[in-house]
Amino acid sequence: MTRVVYVNGRYLPYAKAAVHVEDRGFQFGDAVYEVCEVRAGHLVDEARHMARLARSLAALGIDAPMSAGALAHVMRETIRRNRVRHGLVYLQVTRGEGPREFAFPASDVSRTVVCLARPLTAAAQDAAAETGIAVKTMPDIRWRRSEIKTVMLLPAVLAKEAARNGGAREAWFVDADGFVTEGASSNAWIVAKDGVVMTRQIDPAILAGVTRATLIDVLKEEGVEFRERPFRIEEALQAREAFITSATNTVMPVVRIDGKAVWDGKPGPISRRLRSKFHQFAVISSA
Ligand code: PDD
Repeated sequence: MTRVVYVNGRYLPYAKAAVHVEDRGFQFGDAVYEVCEVRAGHLVDEARHMARLARSLAALGIDAPMSAGALAHVMRETIRRNRVRHGLVYLQVTRGEGPREFAFPASDVSRTVVCLARPLTAAAQDAAAETGIAVKTMPDIRWRRSEIKTVMLLPAVLAKEAARNGGAREAWFVDADGFVTEGASSNAWIVAKDGVVMTRQIDPAILAGVTRATLIDVLKEEGVEFRERPFRIEEALQAREAFITSATNTVMPVVRIDGKAVWDGKPGPISRRLRSKFHQFAVISSA
């Protein structure tokens, strides 16, 4: 089966899918995106992802490229045509194309919309969750608007590469005051010694993760004590458990930070329980 990619109204073969060289996403990172989990062919927490896409577009003054219903159709059609059962759907909207000028183009320039879907092996994800992952910490060198989900991802790219070279799967960014902001492509959490689950409060230093929001629903429903506040690496190293959340990882235990074991170096019971409960609380859309 050939992979197909949606580009500006057409479903194209993967090898033929392209945008213009003067697209502003390509030249300036002037674009926003969403990554949504696909489970049994359905979208997970679609409404929250679409609400965040709308917020990202509004924050940058990019007009919505089409109605919410039309976008929903594009995502479903991309999933269907690629026969993705488990995996992700990626949606990107750029401010459009035009001669390279920093200031915005004329208002009649249409946005570029790209949507692609790809499978992920659930078994590989579950295997990683069984052993837990390592993270490497590094200074948060990103801009001060990390709440907007833009494709301006170079700091995350460099951080992930440094993490990989250090034998870690994720990077944790640390702000100028020594507090963890979030992961390069995930939100960061710890379970303190007294069992309280903690993650940084929503502020412009982090992306308001959809998985984070749904996990907070899980915590409330399950009666797990939780607090939104920043934590330092030293606190994470003394914690009983640590984990990350993102659309493609759901809840992924963190067992090493900068080479040092978190607690006994194994995924803890709270992370495991939250991971197993997650999809009971996420909203699974019909196709
Ligand atoms: N990343 N923080 C950052 C910086 C992210 O890039 C992501 C998601 C998250 C978690 O958000 P959510 O739970 O909505 O996926 C937090 C996606 C998956 C990516 O870039 O691939």
